[in-house]
Amino acid sequence: MTRSSMLLAALLAMSGSVAAEGAFNTAEDAIKYRQHAFQLIKENFGDMHAMIKGKKAMDDAAFQRRAEHLAMLANIPFDAFKVAGSNKGDTEALASVWSDNAKFNDIAKEFQLASSTLATASASGDAGAIKKAFGATGKTCKGCHDQFKQD
Ligand code: HEC
Repeated sequence: MTRSSMLLAALLAMSGSVAAEGAFNTAEDAIKYRQHAFQLIKENFGDMHAMIKGKKAMDDAAFQRRAEHLAMLANIPFDAFKVAGSNKGDTEALASVWSDNAKFNDIAKEFQLASSTLATASASGDAGAIKKAFGATGKTCKGCHDQFKQD
């Protein structure tokens, strides 16, 4: 082996092991990936909720960061629902996610739109617009969970 072919072999071996640990190689990984994403969604949403409800002092800059992060995170879980076999196993997703997939995707889009509206509102500092956008975002969580997630 030449030096460069050895290097190439080493790189291929490395990328091989990275790929094997990637998020979407097994249904089990896909389920974990989307659940972890929803945990981050919950943390960011919950902190904003505490500020809106006055359980925690309102911090405009912190709120805005949470809202911006939520708007990004809202895009993360949904590819993982497309992985074959991820309807079974350690998941709380109901069969309706796949049997009524167009509706599921519609609510996912509403969630993404509402959370990006919330991020825009929080940057503007308009308290009324923030409250409204926050409420609209929360409605998409509940709306989806009621139909597509086990209690
Ligand atoms: C379009 C549908 C949809 C929307 C919108 C949605 N969720 Fe979910 N959520 C699900 C599904 C389906 C699961 C179950 C995932 C699984 O177990 O595979 C889930 C799981 C969760 C979980 C549990 C994660 C775990 O550790 O198992 C939390 C927490 C959560 N969602 C919070 C939220 C919050 C907060 C929002 C809104 C800010 C939200 N979700 C919006 C569909 C949605």
